Amino acid sequence: MTDIESPVLVDFDNGIAFVTLNRPEKRNAMNPALNARMLEVLDELEGDERCGVLVLRGAGQSWSAGMDLKEYFRDNDDKPRDVTLKARRQSGNWWGRLMYFEKPTIAMVNGWCFGGAFTPLVSCDLAIAAEEANFGLSEINWGILPGGNVTRAVAEVMRHRDALYYIMTGELFGGRKAAEMGLVNEAVPLAELESRVRKICASLLEKNPVTLKAAKDTYKRVRNLPWDLADDYIYAKLEQMLFLDKTKGRDQGLKQFLDDKTYQPGLGAYKR
Ligand code: ACO
Repeated sequence: MTDIESPVLVDFDNGIAFVTLNRPEKRNAMNPALNARMLEVLDELEGDERCGVLVLRGAGQSWSAGMDLKEYFRDNDDKPRDVTLKARRQSGNWWGRLMYFEKPTIAMVNGWCFGGAFTPLVSCDLAIAAEEANFGLSEINWGILPGGNVTRAVAEVMRHRDALYYIMTGELFGGRKAAEMGLVNEAVPLAELESRVRKICASLLEKNPVTLKAAKDTYKRVRNLPWDLADDYIYAKLEQMLFLDKTKGRDQGLKQFLDDKTYQPGLGAYKR
């Protein structure tokens, strides 16, 4: 699937699908071609057994410089409204797919991350940044507010005062600050970024994939539900998970601890 000309590259390695935003000469700004391709890539990876975890990274020194200000915005200014709406759908659709993707997802933020890139960043389950990465809600700097659900994404993970500060000033902040504010899980030196992400992938790949999908979706969905609906949803999801898990992981987990005494759930996962 690797193709030098493609705006998105996919490489597989030991259960990890590295998905690379690949417009380094434009700092991986998201143009309509990239957005359309990302949607296809997510479709392709959903059922691909080589993808146990999806890692989203950027080619070169940037993760993504946000929306392509020329191809996404200015080139569409004089086009009919349906063209604008289609462009919006293409980006919104892949970010939405990412939010509830079948496999665990990790944003590996290797460099610049601006504006529209915050939505896929927050849509990923986990995010690990390079300390050297720089983030900015730069919309205010060129005269718009954070659209494309960036404002919603920021409200999801950042504190009220921090979110408003960066929405209103457009100031840059680094990887450590992003971690301190909860925008990413942690920041590590760039030289250690890939090895740290691979370590997290290894931990996730040990886990039951049906359980992982149910657990992450449940967390994301119940946060905004009242308690009684949340409780009901969680049990429904749990029972769906038991039905979908043909390996009967829960029974395995109980047997290996209670009967075989081969592992302790408090200290690690059962052997799949
Ligand atoms: N849209 C379109 N083109 C872009 C974008 C973008 N978001 N970001 C970079 N480019 C292009 C530049 O126009 C330039 O193209 P050219 O070589 O044809 O002149 C090329 O990428 C390289 O950009 P430079 O500015 O020369 O690269 P540099 O490494 O010096 O700076 C930086 C990188 C800081 C990311 C800078 O390019 C920048 O500020 N980009 C815009 C970031 C931004 O505010 N994005 C929009 C957020 S709002 C939203 O997404 C809705």
